[in-house]
Amino acid sequence: MKRRNNNSRSRADFYARKAQKENFPARSVYKLEEIQAKYRVIRPAARVLDLGCSPGSWLLYAAKIVGPKGMVVGVDLKEVNISLPVNVRAHVGDVTAVDDLLPVIGSRFDAVISDMAPATTGRKDVDAARSYNLCRAALDTAEATLAPGGSFVCKIFQGEDFTAFSDSVLVRFDARRIFKPQTCRKDSREIYIIGLGRKK
Ligand SMILES: C[S@@+](CC[C@H](N)C(=O)[O-])C[C@H]1O[C@@H](n2cnc3c(N)ncnc32)[C@H](O)[C@@H]1O
Repeated sequence: MKRRNNNSRSRADFYARKAQKENFPARSVYKLEEIQAKYRVIRPAARVLDLGCSPGSWLLYAAKIVGPKGMVVGVDLKEVNISLPVNVRAHVGDVTAVDDLLPVIGSRFDAVISDMAPATTGRKDVDAARSYNLCRAALDTAEATLAPGGSFVCKIFQGEDFTAFSDSVLVRFDARRIFKPQTCRKDSREIYIIGLGRKK
């Protein structure tokens, strides 16, 4: 057991160093990279909404894929303190207050991606319940802003509400995938639910 945790930690350290070398502020960028390689959720020239965008790795990665004809809008409780390309806007805001956000972020996004994570307590049931609430807020935001055919990516901590949330993605999209990137720590309960092709 100890060995697995050590392996998991040294892999995390490896990705943290790689992120630093490649000028990304967080190693979470490699999770999105894996999701993108498998599901192509972000297309060139697309409009992308990034929920829980700080410190900004996903913003930088998505900006590169959408290119100068696309646009990435981010929202987080915390400010993003890195310099951002011209096709990125980052707002401070609470995704659970979606009605306040809508006038600021706009709509007709081609992809809504959420890496939001709650403040953790160490109690798995409490953390999973908090994560579920953030996922519901992300899905509500996607419902309000995602164009038909668009994609949804959402991190969730697995717990008792996992199946209910996963099913609520399934009914709103043509296809649903559940994916754990290699980059995630093996002992972490986080996993990504992906909705492909938002139904009209
Ligand atoms: C794992 S970090 C995201 C890392 C980011 N994807 C990156 O690559 O830099 C999770 C983020 O979710 C944000 N978050 C948590 N609850 C939120 C909420 N209610 N509204 C907006 N952001 C939230 C946190 O502030 C934190 O910055």
